[in-house]
Amino acid sequence: MRPDSSHPQRVFDPLLRILHWTLALSIVALVATSQLAEAFEHGPYEDAIWNLHILSGYVLAAGLLTRLLWGLVGPASARWRDLWHPGVWKASLAKLRLPQGHRAGHDPIASLAYLFAYGLMALMVVTGLGLAASEFQAGPLAGWLGDAAWLEDVLEDPHEVGFALLLGFIGLHLAALVYHQLRGEKVAQSMVTGKQYLDAESGVQHD
Ligand code: HEM
Repeated sequence: MRPDSSHPQRVFDPLLRILHWTLALSIVALVATSQLAEAFEHGPYEDAIWNLHILSGYVLAAGLLTRLLWGLVGPASARWRDLWHPGVWKASLAKLRLPQGHRAGHDPIASLAYLFAYGLMALMVVTGLGLAASEFQAGPLAGWLGDAAWLEDVLEDPHEVGFALLLGFIGLHLAALVYHQLRGEKVAQSMVTGKQYLDAESGVQHD
């Protein structure tokens, strides 16, 4: 992408952007509440903070479900196929080089990380709902799993590993955005404005 490209194109639709920020903010809230609950363990606010954590989990679940559906019925740049570029992944691996230029829509290499992040979010939602039910008798699965105290031991580790990997994704995602910013490329703003600044030839999508 050229830093001085002056013809922005409208690429990311408003719902996709709202979902991006819903997911990002719910994850920030989940991280903050999990850390606060541990800091205030056995204190008078512990349960209230876990309730906020579970509420943030519902927001993540609703955002993720809507994103899944939007990937099936939304505009081209929101579709799952806009995140699926096996040809680019294989070529980059074979040459050990990142592709040059920028296509309209998601960056093909970053898309691999996004798919991984969506998988992690799904893991967090499933294990989180199981933990809410078995540990706090809360949430939609409480009627079914409310008595399954053993489930807590089974789900705790995957929930924590998923959490650590999601933090890794966020660090990588933010580092990549800062890298582009330092090179004068206006990538980060595209999830706010929906506009991308592309090379003249890059409107052509490649795989
Ligand atoms: C907790 C923090 C964040 C998480 C979990 C997150 C997650 C994601 C995910 C899952 C995608 C793929 C979106 C899709 O489905 O279409 C994405 C794309 C994107 N995000 Fe974030 N994000 C976070 C913070 C940010 C921030 C702070 C910015 C910058 C303002 C940002 C800018 C972008 C941009 C520009 C893309 C599209 C990049 C491209 O492929 O061209 N994100 N993010």
